[in-house]
Amino acid sequence: SWTTGSVIEEQVAAIREQVGDRRAICGLSGGVDSAVAAALVQKAIGSQLTCVYVDHGLMRKGETEQVEKDFVAATGVQLKVVDAEERFLKALAGVSDPEEKRKIIGREFIRVFEQAQAEIIADQGPAVEFLVQGTLYPDVVESGGGTGTANIKSHHNVGGLPEDLEFKLIEPLRKLFKDEVRMVGQELGLPEEIVQRQPFPGPGLGIRIVGEVTKERLDLLREADAIAREELTAAGLDRDIWQCPVVLLADVRSVGVQGDGRTYGHPIVLRPVSSEDAMTADWSRLPYEVLARISTRITNEVKDVNRVVLDVTSKPPGTIEWE
Ligand code: XMP
Repeated sequence: SWTTGSVIEEQVAAIREQVGDRRAICGLSGGVDSAVAAALVQKAIGSQLTCVYVDHGLMRKGETEQVEKDFVAATGVQLKVVDAEERFLKALAGVSDPEEKRKIIGREFIRVFEQAQAEIIADQGPAVEFLVQGTLYPDVVESGGGTGTANIKSHHNVGGLPEDLEFKLIEPLRKLFKDEVRMVGQELGLPEEIVQRQPFPGPGLGIRIVGEVTKERLDLLREADAIAREELTAAGLDRDIWQCPVVLLADVRSVGVQGDGRTYGHPIVLRPVSSEDAMTADWSRLPYEVLARISTRITNEVKDVNRVVLDVTSKPPGTIEWE
């Protein structure tokens, strides 16, 4: 019968067998899947695993610290953090088109991650043969069930590296569904905030600013988002909603009155949705008192925001994210 304990034991044994005395690398995104996969592999092979976390500057408030401090404290994992904020902001400067933003963020991410991998390999030698991935059962089914290897092209001039590196994949979550992954994570002692985390897109807040992405706008959105999350958690609504994107309409301004004068600021959109799998979604009927608290706090506490609006569109026709 299925127990989290037996899944962990079985995977730990299999990973030890597979890796032997060689080494593995794992990219952490801050999400549940990569965190649980990394924790499992860490349990199996300890310091033979190195994790890489790319800080692209598009994370929400406190998320990078959660990985750097809480995740490391809970697992004892070796972590390489790459601060790439400046690089991402530079690449995104002047870009407003959503697809263009996604392309740039994806491209920069791969470059930074590959460079970090190359540095680890240059450091530790050719024994780094494995790449850990948080592939879940639904991903396996969707992609036709293939398994195997990943190619990493190394175009970054770190001395002594082969032109084209091939990693063998470790995918310890391949037989699990999301709720089972959360149970395994809990059993492994991961922090609640990581195990119960709601979905968050890879391109982060970069696709929650309608308009150009700048440091100033990111900081502003981070504040508004933190307030919304804090109030939703305080109201005990985290399990009822699937996720709640908070979006800054940076290209829109509206007139307001705040303190003793006229303002001309930006709107913040709240997009709380309920869903089973993100393919379809309904807008969440949040209690008015909670919406009122979020609205009051955001307009009081976040500079340049003078209006909070609620998105009451289902998916379809609206997507969950605005970009
Ligand atoms: P949409 O906006 O398409 O989103 O209704 C469906 C779900 O996917 C998430 N999402 C992403 N996740 N990289 C990700 O890892 C992405 O580029 C991305 N875009 C959207 C979104 O948050 C929602 O849960």
